[in-house]
Amino acid sequence: MRFAHRHLLGIEHLSQSDITAILDLAEKYVDLNRQSTKHSDVLAGLTQINMFFENSTRTQASFELAGKRLGADVMNMAMQASSIKKGETLIDTAMTLNAMHPDLLVVRHPHSGAVDLLAQKVNCAVLNAGDGRHEHPTQALLDALTIRRAKGRLHRLNIAICGDVAHSRVARSNLILLGKMENRIRLIGPPTLVPAQFSEFGAEIYDDMREGLKDVDVVMMLRLQKERMDGGFIPSEREYYHRYGLDAAKLALAKPDAIVMHPGPMNRGVEIDGTLADDINRSVIQEQVEMGVAVRMAAMELLARNLSEAA
Ligand code: NCD
Repeated sequence: MRFAHRHLLGIEHLSQSDITAILDLAEKYVDLNRQSTKHSDVLAGLTQINMFFENSTRTQASFELAGKRLGADVMNMAMQASSIKKGETLIDTAMTLNAMHPDLLVVRHPHSGAVDLLAQKVNCAVLNAGDGRHEHPTQALLDALTIRRAKGRLHRLNIAICGDVAHSRVARSNLILLGKMENRIRLIGPPTLVPAQFSEFGAEIYDDMREGLKDVDVVMMLRLQKERMDGGFIPSEREYYHRYGLDAAKLALAKPDAIVMHPGPMNRGVEIDGTLADDINRSVIQEQVEMGVAVRMAAMELLARNLSEAA
């Protein structure tokens, strides 16, 4: 099976069979990651540079572990403390790194489109680790793997994506992926956070959580992205939790075996009840983190195969 892409910039560029290929390969890495010896050498000799222009804990750690488990030489650039602060442009930084001959560049940036721009300027494979409100493809892929393993399939499911859709690259990538795999998607939140134009993605929009959650198979909660808001989006956190926070009473309206997801980091008591988030019978939040490493290993392996073909 051929994965005909040089970069992983967004789910929008992937076909159904690309998505399935990544998830199938990731399954192999889920098994490897559960062994005591987790090493493979598919990226041996290759250099992976992680450039995070925006704070990250789990995504950066996950990409770093994924690269190391595949035998790559992995370097993390501390972009907060780098020449960017001295006024260097994104492209100059990228060109400087490019001259060091990396093979894989993992980039997170606060501006939508910045990662695509950078990919046009470098010779290596670029993986988008989140750009502004645009895309976060490996998050959607790890969510897809988590859903497929929990539900036994990744099509014809009713999936609710709830909360701060407007500011969320996670929601956007998931909408595209889950739509491509032919699921029914509902977006639930106040109109300030779920603008009507999101119906273009083929999703149904609800502003009433109780109505929207009725009979869904999957409940995906989103973090309230306060750092991307300039005020006026929600009345107060208390009121928001009351109307849109996921708790056991609201979850009871979903299917009895519905799973609860969250990409992290969570605001407990704002978008989700802490006890529910920790309930291993309903919440798959820890599995999402586990699947993240496996999916990133698979994506990097598929891109690296194309590097050696081009050489
Ligand atoms: C998400 C992100 O950074 O887009 N987090 C993540 O990658 N685990 C979601 C978020 O920040 O809310």
